[in-house]
Amino acid sequence: MSLVPFDDRDGLIWFDGALIPWRDAKLHVLTHGLHYASGVFEGERAYAGNIFRLRMHTERLIGSGRILGFEIPYTADEIDAACIAVLKANGLTDSYLRPIAWRGSEMLSVSGQHTKIHLAIAAWVWPAYFADRMAGVALDWAEWRRPDPTTAPTASKATGNYMIGTLSKHKAEANGFADAMMLDWRGRLAEATGANVFLAIDGALHTPTPDCFLDGITRRTVMGLARRRQIPVIERAMQPEEFERAQEVFLAGTAAEVTPVRQIGDRHFTPGQITETLLQDYEALVRMAPDEVEGRLVA
Ligand SMILES: Cc1ncc(COP(=O)(O)O)c(C=O)c1O
Repeated sequence: MSLVPFDDRDGLIWFDGALIPWRDAKLHVLTHGLHYASGVFEGERAYAGNIFRLRMHTERLIGSGRILGFEIPYTADEIDAACIAVLKANGLTDSYLRPIAWRGSEMLSVSGQHTKIHLAIAAWVWPAYFADRMAGVALDWAEWRRPDPTTAPTASKATGNYMIGTLSKHKAEANGFADAMMLDWRGRLAEATGANVFLAIDGALHTPTPDCFLDGITRRTVMGLARRRQIPVIERAMQPEEFERAQEVFLAGTAAEVTPVRQIGDRHFTPGQITETLLQDYEALVRMAPDEVEGRLVA
């Protein structure tokens, strides 16, 4: 596989208040965020020049930092403006954006009280998270489980929460799968390593209650689209055996968008009407003007 390394690309990255050349956006190795996972980030997508649900992402970023005990030193308006500036400065209209905030290098111990909080925002073209998205992806079962919210800051999009995601995804890839389906610490159904999961069972859409994993912005968007189509949406505690009763399964996330699932472990699914309808509705919605989006979703 030929990869263009992420530290050796053309373009501009917004770094602590200014747009700087991509290759200059560097950190010192003795950075608290690197050693102690004191970082939070967002994944956003722009379509036709608009960042989809930008303010929700910005608010989640600020909230994620607060859960880790720090205040990002920019207002939501400033962060939104910086994201838009990154997109424009790089001449991008359809792109992925990655804001990240972290504790700096003023202290390097478990305590990071006196560290400075940094913010950077990069954008690049990331057409599809899964290479064979439309054909449906195959998921392995993860060995790692989403932890109890008293064990990890599960409501924060914190870098440290991704450690078990990377381990699970690597094992799935080694087994020939695209991703892994994770359970939570109770053995209930949780999510994939970077996207939420939906099951279509007898005409209704079921999804696990996000009480120990991210309540995704795409997840909430898809629920609003389903209600608009009068598809019943049921959010509840779910068991892994329920895949046996599901006619369709799909993932939802900013990077993954709406991705049909064709296999989990040894169980196979055929993407059907509900997945196709919501996939098309999502694709249409993300290209609408930002002030039209909320009006298309039913609470
Ligand atoms: C672990 C995890 N769960 C769920 C999601 C979906 O969240 P969103 O739809 O807000 O992108 C993501 C992606 O950000 C994620 O990384």
